[in-house]
Amino acid sequence: MKIAIIGGGPAGLYAAILLKKQRPQAEITVYERNRADDTFGFGVVFSDATLDNFEKYDAPSYRRITQEFAYWDDIAVHFRGTVHRVGGNGFCGCSRRKLLLILQERARELGVTLLFEADIEDEARFADADLVVLADGINSRFRDKYIAHFQPEVDVRSNKFAWMGSTRPLDAFTFIFQETEWGPFIAHAYQYEVGRSTWIFETDPETFKRAGLEGLSEKQSADRMAEIFGWFLEGHQLLTNRSMWRNFPMIRSKRWVKDKLVLLGDAKATAHFSIGSGTKLAMEDAIALADAMQRAPTVAAALQQYEDGRREEVEKTQHAADVSLVWFEHVDRFWDFDPVQFAFGVMTRAKAITYDNLTLRAPDFVAEVDKAFAKQVRSRGLDVDIEKPVAPMFQPLRLREMTIVNRAVVSPMCMYSAEEGVPGDFHLVHYGSRAVGGAGLIFTEMTCVSRDARITPGCAGLWNDEQQAAWRRIVDFVHANSAAKFALQLGHAGRKGATKLMWDGMDRPLEQGGWDVISASPIPYFPDSQVPREMDRAAMDVVKAAFVAAAERGEACGFDMLELHSAHGYLLASFISPLTNQRTDEYGGPLANRLRFPLEVFEALRSVWPAHKPMSVRISATDWVEGGITGDDAVAIARAFAQAGVDLVDVSTGQTVRDAQPVYGRMFQTPFSEQVRNEARVATMCVGNITTSDQVNTILAAGRADLVALGRPHLIDPSFTLKAAAWYGAEISCPPQYLPGKEQIFRNSVRDRQDFDDLKIKAKPKTRAELKAEATKPLAAE
Ligand SMILES: Cc1cc2nc3c(=O)[nH]c(=O)nc-3n(C[C@H](O)[C@H](O)[C@H](O)COP(=O)(O)OP(=O)(O)OC[C@H]3O[C@@H](n4cnc5c(N)ncnc54)[C@H](O)[C@@H]3O)c2cc1C
Ligand SMILES: Cc1cc2nc3c(=O)[nH]c(=O)nc-3n(C[C@H](O)[C@H](O)[C@H](O)COP(=O)(O)O)c2cc1C
Repeated sequence: MKIAIIGGGPAGLYAAILLKKQRPQAEITVYERNRADDTFGFGVVFSDATLDNFEKYDAPSYRRITQEFAYWDDIAVHFRGTVHRVGGNGFCGCSRRKLLLILQERARELGVTLLFEADIEDEARFADADLVVLADGINSRFRDKYIAHFQPEVDVRSNKFAWMGSTRPLDAFTFIFQETEWGPFIAHAYQYEVGRSTWIFETDPETFKRAGLEGLSEKQSADRMAEIFGWFLEGHQLLTNRSMWRNFPMIRSKRWVKDKLVLLGDAKATAHFSIGSGTKLAMEDAIALADAMQRAPTVAAALQQYEDGRREEVEKTQHAADVSLVWFEHVDRFWDFDPVQFAFGVMTRAKAITYDNLTLRAPDFVAEVDKAFAKQVRSRGLDVDIEKPVAPMFQPLRLREMTIVNRAVVSPMCMYSAEEGVPGDFHLVHYGSRAVGGAGLIFTEMTCVSRDARITPGCAGLWNDEQQAAWRRIVDFVHANSAAKFALQLGHAGRKGATKLMWDGMDRPLEQGGWDVISASPIPYFPDSQVPREMDRAAMDVVKAAFVAAAERGEACGFDMLELHSAHGYLLASFISPLTNQRTDEYGGPLANRLRFPLEVFEALRSVWPAHKPMSVRISATDWVEGGITGDDAVAIARAFAQAGVDLVDVSTGQTVRDAQPVYGRMFQTPFSEQVRNEARVATMCVGNITTSDQVNTILAAGRADLVALGRPHLIDPSFTLKAAAWYGAEISCPPQYLPGKEQIFRNSVRDRQDFDDLKIKAKPKTRAELKAEATKPLAAE
């Protein structure tokens, strides 16, 4: 077999090693345009888990790599004169140059031919090869040559970064967030060998310009960075090696394989440097390719297996990298945070590290986070214990004169079980059991303000006395038997009205018994949905009056809070989104116009809703469609409602139009809550695929939301919050009838948690830094 590998970076060299081990008879050649020891960059990082993989696939190179490595366990966050350190991270750093020399040496030993200063212009010269590996890096000539086939998507990010080195020793992966007269600068730094560390400097484009970095030489910009970070460098130099400022390109390729050509490493996909995974991904690609070549009967089958098997893992890493880079791009959102909360946000930004996980690894740090959180609560006038604070989820929140005892919320969820809008026994049991289950705040389902405002014939309403009495019974039960506050969500279905019950066909038009629907513009939801009537001013007045009447009935029922549903493509949302509002009058056009009617309804409600009771608004913070609402619009929308007196923005997303492309995942809507909260400076509630109390605490402690709503988890577990309280040892009220059950779970949870923590600690292998520390510990210390 003949294999040609273009590019002698980590991907190409490691592929050569693994393939040659597998097929000693194969003729494998690596073509590298540079000289053997002529490389850019300083250090590379690998996690312990990645090193375990290297050990399994090629022990000799693994041993040489680890001999040369610097190990560290801690991440240190420097911000506003403070430093927070968190251990247990298990990372290693190594010089990129040494890594390449080790891989070259190992490849030669195995019989791979390495040709340097061999710049390949055209892969046609490898016509007789069975496999051509394109490992030619981020600017891959061959990916671009076959651009129509590989279909790379290149997303050039806004921040500027430069890769430099230093002689400054470091004993932790170090993040420095530095305020300057021009704006914030960030350093990501780690040691990779004795007396050498990598320094990546990052800043936003405006700060870059203000700092006059544009057009400076490498040396001049290194001098400028040395001035800014001089206090930390302690006289050590900054070193440069092709350290130009650039913008990071996130690259994703639709296809990785073309006939016998295969893309590997940066050539096919990149991952932002802030999660230190570029070299890891490149070498793990080589592992995946070698595995596929081992298993598959033909080269063509192997390449397909490589692509099919590897794509998900690469995309997961890219997603984590995306989340992380976005955090750094928006660091200004957190700039005025308490330093410990800021550091918690840095640690948990990419979702892999959580509140519980940090509690195990760095209990003192989490204790400090809890304390800072409790202090914030106290500064808002609530008398909470700051010496022994409970976890953030169990800290109260005050909105106007309503105090919610904890931060867990039952999200509004239609039950489609009302008759003529009247909630019945099902609703009493449903809301009653969730209130008794401990959530601090529960929302009603979207409660419709008139008969023709319903989504389905099963939707609850509040437009007549019978409905009012039925809701009153439920509110009274909740207040008499729990500490929960109860919020009424009022809405109008708009163009999504007159549709079937969820289990008969969500959003599908009713075949019989429907009613006329209205919307901002006459655009049907499905092509075969009813075409809504465009609302004129008279229709707006009717709808507004219906909202006001329902709010007055809500007050008479005794609800504690009122939410205006302006999300998910329903009537008010249809005004806000440009995709559903194509009006040419003063209610269409720019966002301020599109907001006019929803704000008018809100203001009318605010004027009749008692001043001491809070109001919220639910919004779709993105439509997940090009040309629709974006996170930046959501900030403007939140500001407009805040100005009109909203106390909380309930940040959901989507459901506006059929062809939306949401990016699902754990906590997938939380970034929008974070943006709205920290840019519009308004309290937010986040929601969406949040399933554990650990996630709830992580979100709250990082300042990404003020309340956390859970929908589906509450459908199957009404006692979600009570169980979480037992887990975290937080006091929680419970009806006297259930006290023996509460006492039992609180007792058992202490032991269960201890067992769980022990198991986790036992299951986690020691990091190389810990093993090294043990191996070098003097005997006397045993
Ligand atoms: C300026 C810069 C600095 C970096 N520094 C670091 C760092 O310090 N630490 C870190 O972890 N990551 C660093 N990275 C990222 C890291 O280099 C990559 O994620 C990783 O090296 C990917 O490995 P690769 O083998 O796919 O590509 P590369 O390492 O880029 O290797 C591709 C190789 O192909 C060669 N090549 C390209 N075209 C041809 C051709 N036509 N013919 C022959 N040879 C060709 C190139 O010379 C290069 O050696 C840096 C990236 C950049 C852009
Ligand atoms: C059955 C069901 C009914 C829902 N009804 C409503 C509703 O009436 N009003 C509303 O604003 N959101 C409604 N939603 C959306 C939820 O409030 C929540 O935002 C969504 O389910 C995402 O949260 P989750 O991942 O925790 O379930 C509903 C969701 C479900 C599953």
